[in-house]
Amino acid sequence: MEGVKPMRAPFEGKLVRLRAREPEDEPYHNQWFNAWDVVRYLGRRYPISHAQSRKMLEPDPRYGWSIGFIIETLLEGDPIGQVFLGSASAEDRSAELGISIGDKSRWDGGYGTDAMRTVCRFGFDMMHLHRIELGVYADNERAVHVYERIGFRTEGRRREMYFKEGVYHDTLIMGLLEGELVDG
Ligand SMILES: CC(C)(COP(=O)(O)OP(=O)(O)OC[C@H]1O[C@@H](n2cnc3c(N)ncnc32)[C@H](O)[C@@H]1OP(=O)(O)O)[C@@H](O)C(=O)NCCC(=O)NCCS
Repeated sequence: MEGVKPMRAPFEGKLVRLRAREPEDEPYHNQWFNAWDVVRYLGRRYPISHAQSRKMLEPDPRYGWSIGFIIETLLEGDPIGQVFLGSASAEDRSAELGISIGDKSRWDGGYGTDAMRTVCRFGFDMMHLHRIELGVYADNERAVHVYERIGFRTEGRRREMYFKEGVYHDTLIMGLLEGELVDG
């Protein structure tokens, strides 16, 4: 019908779809988390085994109630990364977010921004969250740019939190409240 917007599933964006994680995702999950360019800005530093990456695809009790997705391209259905909302609290209606586009060839193609918008919208509209929080290395300029673009605000700085490649890195704490998501 003219003038009626096509229905978009709540786990679909303009470029990506978020789908459940499967045991079959293990091989590229293992590749993503062994690629230094991908993990240098994550809280990881050691190579991971296939057994470890198999476990990573299962819910992690350290993050309490959590939901993890594989990010795949809408066009080709290619898995390109992962995103999760963890440590969710029903009382506070808050959760922590983590994302990585593990397929580096897809960086700067708009996928990270679209996946962030999609998972935040999902959190607010489907999980009834009020607040989404994340931590990001202050020198991860690409990620900070993406988070600010969709409405995240810097709320604090944890100084010299991580020691990697011989230097300390500060971490920014960023937060997004319901109603603050900037649509693209
Ligand atoms: C950070 C990440 C999720 C972003 O995803 P992405 O698909 O590359 O992001 P997009 O393509 O949507 O946007 C990237 C933006 O950063 C910009 N950018 C690239 N390098 C930059 C830099 N050094 N400084 C500032 N902005 C930069 C791009 O130009 C683009 O902005 P534009 O659309 O205004 O031109 C992805 O690169 C990634 O997973 N990196 C490795 C893991 C990681 O850092 N995860 C986040 C941990 S908190």
